Amino acid sequence: MIEKRMQEIIEIINKANYDYYAKDNPTLTDQEYDRYMQELLKLESKYPELKQKNSPTVRVGGVVIDEFVKVKHEIPMLSLSNVFNESDIITFDERIRKEVKNPIYVCELKIDGLSVSLLYKNGKLVRGATRGDGVTGEDITHNVLTIKEIPLQLSEQVDIEVRGEIYMSKIALENINDLRKEKGETLLANPRNAAAGSVRQLDSKVAASRNLSNFIYHLPNSLDYGIHTHYDALEYMKKLGFKTNPNNQKVNGINELLEYINYWTENRNNLPYEIDGIVIKLDNIDNQQRLGFTAKYPKWATAYKFPATEVLTKLKEIKFTVGRTGQITPNAILEPVRLMGSIISKATLHNEEYIKMKDIRIGDIVSVIKSGDVIPRVEKTIIERRNGDEIQFVMTKNCPICNSDLVKKDSSYYCINPLCDARKIEGLIHFVSRDAMNIEGLGENIIEDFYNMGYLRFISDFYNLNDKKDELMELEGFGEKSINNLIDSIENSKNNSLERLLFGLGIRYVGNKTAKILSVYYKNIDNLINTTYEQLITIKDIGERIAKSIINYFNNEENIQLINKLKQYKVNMEYIDEGIIDNIEFENKTFVLTGSLKDITREEASNIIEKNGGKTSNSVSKNTFAVIVGENPGSKYDKAINLNIPIWTEQEFLEKIK
Ligand code: IVH
Repeated sequence: MIEKRMQEIIEIINKANYDYYAKDNPTLTDQEYDRYMQELLKLESKYPELKQKNSPTVRVGGVVIDEFVKVKHEIPMLSLSNVFNESDIITFDERIRKEVKNPIYVCELKIDGLSVSLLYKNGKLVRGATRGDGVTGEDITHNVLTIKEIPLQLSEQVDIEVRGEIYMSKIALENINDLRKEKGETLLANPRNAAAGSVRQLDSKVAASRNLSNFIYHLPNSLDYGIHTHYDALEYMKKLGFKTNPNNQKVNGINELLEYINYWTENRNNLPYEIDGIVIKLDNIDNQQRLGFTAKYPKWATAYKFPATEVLTKLKEIKFTVGRTGQITPNAILEPVRLMGSIISKATLHNEEYIKMKDIRIGDIVSVIKSGDVIPRVEKTIIERRNGDEIQFVMTKNCPICNSDLVKKDSSYYCINPLCDARKIEGLIHFVSRDAMNIEGLGENIIEDFYNMGYLRFISDFYNLNDKKDELMELEGFGEKSINNLIDSIENSKNNSLERLLFGLGIRYVGNKTAKILSVYYKNIDNLINTTYEQLITIKDIGERIAKSIINYFNNEENIQLINKLKQYKVNMEYIDEGIIDNIEFENKTFVLTGSLKDITREEASNIIEKNGGKTSNSVSKNTFAVIVGENPGSKYDKAINLNIPIWTEQEFLEKIK
């Protein structure tokens, strides 16, 4: 009777795990799950002789081993060769093409964790092992059993070995480090070390408390299961109950492959776990076997590694720059290093407090990071590398450009001299920037040169450059073509909608979003000039600080003169509504495009979807609303069919947006 109940609970919990982790479709609430678990734990402690070896209560941990037993991998666990840029990827593809006509690849995220081999007998997990040197690893079964995403029981009674990655999600790492900080313990440096440290523990309680996760990505003996493509192996493993990564994607040809890489290079920060690259695998397993292995790597796969986002270098000097608001920023002048594909020799240090808090000194070896297209910043100093010659930082008290006394506000210092050249130059740079008037052909150095030569003093002077065309053409580095392009770009900027101008004027606290809100509300600049503080603060998202700043700006006669001058140059001062079309078919829905479209480009289709209130994504998931299919669609089409996602032809799509 008791035994039967225990078996029943085990089955319920195993099914719940399968539904949750493999099918992504929870069927029990957390409370129900916990209740079953508690009941089982209680029964097992009362009747230890009835406890099953693979009971889900092993997740709780508590098994302590004396030492790690060595494990021999029957099939060696190989690592992957690395490639670092597009041309390496093209070479890899060419090499494959010598052996295989029209290769299909599977692209996967390269999870930053540690690899694991899992052995199942009769559908039951019997062993988990680390990679070790590839031939001999270590038995970590006691810890593997605690990882909820690793099934204890498969949906078929098979004997099978699968391989994958144990990792720690960003949030799990953050939580653990918060706790460690409170206890005064050293912090875990990164998710990979954290995961590796957790599974190399003799007491499984540690691993159980670490909230580890898992993705399975390799079935070494696929052919034994009648499986001939890697993608099918992934599907099969998913069916057995393993967690495979939802972003795995079959790609057809080098363009789709590069598209996948570009997408994840840009979007990897949105993932809940760290990835350090993309793995590219030849899909067909018979062809994989034809290509074979080198001593270390399979020849049919490679890993594209993202450029480093953090490097160490020497901080040689700290120099100050003045922004358009007069804010003084300390900048680190660095020994040049390569970071994410470019050489950097300068990084921001934000402000005095930041430098003091991180105890950054001149002469220190520092770590510099860059994420997305943000300016590189000095993240921390490596104290162990100090030799005693480092110099303490002292904040300047004077503007580095006009020497006037600085004023401290919050944590920053400001130059408040309105005639300071640096502030004016920054204001001009801001006016032409991409989110402002978007004038191309005027880099920061050119603006500074033009300012110093007297061609550009005020914002309105941009619209006067046409008259100085001949003189400008005489300048070194300028040809007729570049000047004409520049003049064209300036001329085009006259047609911009009001929000670009408003943002470009550099009114304090008016960022591009506020500029848009103001433009939509006031429709033209005169309405805004004539508004009142009281009215401004009634607008959603316009607070007192912004309202005050706007009123101040337009109360200044010089600013009104500037606007009048711009009006004379016929710069548009009206809001141009390119608004979102109200289309219920698209609103808040996610679409995926695949195959080549005939009448429009993919980019145009994406723009149209966005204009209609929808989003596009690169991969099909259960959240995809519809997949828009052109000619020769790729694997996204198959995936959509599998997931029962509606398919729209190009024609159907065009009908809906008419
Ligand atoms: S495939 C023969 N796929 O990267 C196939 N590895 O640098 C070998 N890794 O040792 C591995 N994500 O620890 C593969 N989707 C993925 C991966 C992945 C992370 C790790 C794995 C491997 C290392 C190679």
